[in-house]
Amino acid sequence: MIIKPLSGSIGAEVFDLDLNSLDGATLHMLEVAFNEHLVLCFREQDFSPAKLLSVSRAFASVGRSQHLLGMKGYPEIVPVVKEAGEISPTVFGGNWHTDSTFLSAPPSRTFLYAVDCPAVGGDTLFSNLYLAYESLSPGLQGLLEGVRAVHSSAGVYGEGSELDSQLENMKLRKDVGDALSALHPVIRVNPATGKFALWINPLFVSSFEAMSVEESQQILGYLNSIAVTPSYTCRVRWEKGTLVMWDNRCTQHCALSDYSGSRREMWRIEGEHEIPIPAVGQR
Ligand code: SIN
Repeated sequence: MIIKPLSGSIGAEVFDLDLNSLDGATLHMLEVAFNEHLVLCFREQDFSPAKLLSVSRAFASVGRSQHLLGMKGYPEIVPVVKEAGEISPTVFGGNWHTDSTFLSAPPSRTFLYAVDCPAVGGDTLFSNLYLAYESLSPGLQGLLEGVRAVHSSAGVYGEGSELDSQLENMKLRKDVGDALSALHPVIRVNPATGKFALWINPLFVSSFEAMSVEESQQILGYLNSIAVTPSYTCRVRWEKGTLVMWDNRCTQHCALSDYSGSRREMWRIEGEHEIPIPAVGQR
């Protein structure tokens, strides 16, 4: 197995490893690499839906997406599909975000497997939220440690959202009812590393607890720009058979909409749901 960093800040590619035959020692080495690089990109994998599920389960418990409909027979696997003939430029995950943070126990990991990719384009960007936290002054770090943010799915999946018609070949669940929301610490500890991350994202966070939206937006605008500082990011170029596993406790990501006229199909699984641990009192 060869592990090669994708940038100086986040992400690594893993070569010469068949995840279909994973032993305990290799799994341990991959967990160490995952905690170091936050995004692991396994090349040249060959999975059926059942195999993808069992490989994901080797790393983490897996669950169903709250708002997206899974595959028939595999409700945990959501097909993320954009057909070549689609009119809308909207792609799923096309804004900087961390997955499903509107849940009280959001997924710690996401698995995304490339079934069909454009020859060029359709890459995914990732950013390192530990570096974002570490770039803040001790004064601002301390100020934010006791603050919680309101995360909500209302803007994306709630009433009035146009996502259902924009994502022409994906299916939203109709059985979930109202938009979901949760309060989470702005500075989150990853229990696997003990490290602190600046844990906000522009897609699901609208305000801070006990502050108006207007007040919050000023501060969030600044923090959101820090979170995706170019030097804290990497870019994953997909190939058919690539599996990427990322850590939602300390990263954001953004899928690029630059492949109009080409087809892209991914299979996506959310795993290891856990309640975010606040940094306050953890020093
Ligand atoms: C996602 O945001 O979960 C999907 C990202 C992608 O399709 O690249």
